[in-house]
Amino acid sequence: ALSILLFFFNLSAFGSSWVVKYPQKETCAPRGSSVILQCSYNYSDSDIVKSVKWGHKDNFFDGPFIYDSESNKTSSRFTYSGDKKHNCSLTIDKVELGDAGKYAFRFITNSDKFTGKDGTMLKIGDLNITFNKAKENEVIKEGDSASLTCTSGCDGGKPSQFMWLKDGEVIKKGPVLNLTDVSFKHSGDYCCTYNGATSGVITINVECEPKNITVKVFPSEDVDPGTNVTLICSSHANPLVMNYTWFKKHGTNVTVLGERHRYYFKKSSQMDDDQFFCRATNKHGSCISSAVTIKIKGKQSHWFELKSAVCNYSDTFKTVALRLINIFTQFIFDIFIHI
Ligand SMILES: *[C@@H]1O[C@H](CO)[C@@H](O)[C@H](O)[C@H]1NC(C)=O
Ligand SMILES: *[C@@H]1O[C@H](CO)[C@@H](O)[C@H](O)[C@H]1NC(C)=O
Ligand SMILES: *[C@@H]1O[C@H](CO)[C@@H](O)[C@H](O)[C@H]1NC(C)=O
Ligand SMILES: *[C@@H]1O[C@H](CO)[C@@H](O)[C@H](O)[C@H]1NC(C)=O
Ligand SMILES: *[C@@H]1O[C@H](CO)[C@@H](O)[C@H](O)[C@H]1NC(C)=O
Ligand SMILES: *[C@@H]1O[C@H](CO)[C@@H](O)[C@H](O)[C@H]1NC(C)=O
Ligand SMILES: *[C@@H]1O[C@H](CO)[C@@H](O)[C@H](O)[C@H]1NC(C)=O
Ligand SMILES: *[C@@H]1O[C@H](CO)[C@@H](O)[C@H](O)[C@H]1NC(C)=O
Ligand SMILES: *[C@@H]1O[C@H](CO)[C@@H](O)[C@H](O)[C@H]1NC(C)=O
Ligand SMILES: *[C@@H]1O[C@H](CO)[C@@H](O)[C@H](O)[C@H]1NC(C)=O
Repeated sequence: ALSILLFFFNLSAFGSSWVVKYPQKETCAPRGSSVILQCSYNYSDSDIVKSVKWGHKDNFFDGPFIYDSESNKTSSRFTYSGDKKHNCSLTIDKVELGDAGKYAFRFITNSDKFTGKDGTMLKIGDLNITFNKAKENEVIKEGDSASLTCTSGCDGGKPSQFMWLKDGEVIKKGPVLNLTDVSFKHSGDYCCTYNGATSGVITINVECEPKNITVKVFPSEDVDPGTNVTLICSSHANPLVMNYTWFKKHGTNVTVLGERHRYYFKKSSQMDDDQFFCRATNKHGSCISSAVTIKIKGKQSHWFELKSAVCNYSDTFKTVALRLINIFTQFIFDIFIHI
């Protein structure tokens, strides 16, 4: 009786040693990422593993297998990360929607075959960016705050695996990207990645009133009489400047020269004290440049160049002009003091 009992005990021990275990019943991975299906297996100590196979969607016993150590015709996206001992993990690269479904491991030894037919499920998610803006209107302006959240389409996902890229460069790890007090420097193409998967691109275009307005002078600020001088108004603005206006200042007299990007004039010695400045306007506001004086070569100009640009989002031109006049009065006053 004891020997019979021992026999049964041995048999049951033998039977339970043939097993395939999947630590996760279900794995989820966003489309395009790499995923590993963890797996371990066991068999009689005396056996030697001859071949290992992975089946997908019911082709668990007869194939076709998505991985088969006896065949070299399986897709290179499926890599056997296990061995012929006890690890049977499978790595899938660049997962596709069609990869979803049940996977099962099968192995053949010198004496028998075994299939872990319970299998393990693979679900495919999708990387998505959700965009939340503090203010409701759709345009992002300087100073606004915005937040970008990357979701994997799977439950949670490992936060440390998320990365944010701006114009192709990694700028942050983690699923949430907070942008506060945005400036035009934040404009660009954003996307997120997760384990090799890449989301779609979201373009952020930070709008601002014109700024850093400068006057470019060709050929130069010192010219021979009669030279055709070109003044170009340049600025940084988003959306682009829709309106440039040129002004000439002579003493306290400011005149509008016209609405255009470039202004041409022939330099004559009568206009020595003239100063030129421009204003750039877009839908968010306007700003004026500092003024330039075009001098005749070798002659000293009476006027000092206005260095400080007056820039105020809500300024009307009248207040700007008034300020210019005030500054000039101060300049003249300074000159008298010095004389
Ligand atoms: C694997 O099977 C052997 C018997 O063949 C047994 O001794 C061993 O404990 C088993 N290992 C695991 C992890 O089940
Ligand atoms: C695939 O295996 C066959 C034999 O099983 C062999 O003739 C062939 O060269 C192999 N092809 C590659 C690309 O390894
Ligand atoms: C099996 O191999 C994979 C890939 O090398 C590894 O990630 C995993 O931890 C291994 N599993 C076990 C139980 O050792
Ligand atoms: C993710 O984005 C895709 C395509 O833009 C869309 O079809 C899908 O519904 C989105 N999923 C979620 C969870 O928002
Ligand atoms: C992003 O901002 C929200 C609130 O605006 C805050 O709850 C969250 O912790 C911030 N996340 C990061 C990563 O800074
Ligand atoms: C605008 O001017 C500020 C300071 O004068 C400077 O820091 C900034 O880089 C300039 N921006 C551009 C686009 O030139
Ligand atoms: C100055 O040059 C520009 C282009 O180079 C030309 O369009 C303009 O008519 C010229 N003006 C004068 C006064 O010669
Ligand atoms: C240019 O600006 C002036 C005053 O700021 C405005 O009256 C005019 O309509 C603008 N022109 C265009 C084309 O926007
Ligand atoms: C100001 O300029 C205008 C136009 O160029 C001219 O008619 C007027 O006489 C000037 N006034 C003074 C005080 O210079
Ligand atoms: C802009 O001008 C308005 C009045 O014209 C003033 O109240 C405001 O403080 C100015 N802002 C800056 C930044 O100078």
